[in-house]
Amino acid sequence: MEHTKHKLKIPRAGEFTSLLEASLPEKTFLHTMSTARYMAELSARLSISYEDAVGAGLLHDLKKGIGKDELLHEAEAYGIELTPAQRENPKLLHGPVAAEHCRSTLGIASEAVYEAIYWHTTGRPGLGLMGLALYFADYAEPLRKRPEAEHAREMCESHGFYPALYFVATQKTQYVRNHTTVDPISEAFYAWIERELVSQGHIPATGYPASRMP
Ligand SMILES: [Fe+2]
Ligand SMILES: [Fe+2]
Repeated sequence: MEHTKHKLKIPRAGEFTSLLEASLPEKTFLHTMSTARYMAELSARLSISYEDAVGAGLLHDLKKGIGKDELLHEAEAYGIELTPAQRENPKLLHGPVAAEHCRSTLGIASEAVYEAIYWHTTGRPGLGLMGLALYFADYAEPLRKRPEAEHAREMCESHGFYPALYFVATQKTQYVRNHTTVDPISEAFYAWIERELVSQGHIPATGYPASRMP
């Protein structure tokens, strides 16, 4: 497929790739490369910045390889105020800490990249289009082999990005509801995105019952 051959044409691709390779287990490294390629495709589909989309895709899991104590330590150093959910499950901090690192240490000035990386795991109400793209791509990039991810990619091709995004948000929210540590912002994001997509006519007013997703 096209995206597997796609070369990442952003000025700092080599630097970022080396950093990721040195920081992450191989599986996560390959996921970040695949997410970046999928973001490149989505950038054309959604008319968002190619450079920002690829950068966000590459760097979103930069802090995925570090332990809970170090995440808590780095979050404190960046002055991130912890939510109860993050305190209970510090792994939720890998997005916020990566976003801060990209801005302060790597000197990436784009607010869209910062926001997308910060919120990629949970989403948040009001999330911008770059963030929505990354939330989707993180779940659906082509190395994600579970049937739901494959379905999300197919939906994006056949029905467009927004119905596919709604499918992913539904899947992720159901997953979170079935696990003990629920971050309330995931639920708030889901309620918001459903309202937005209905009001913009991207999905039917009744939503899609899970069994009748297109
Ligand atoms: Fe992540
Ligand atoms: Fe990821």
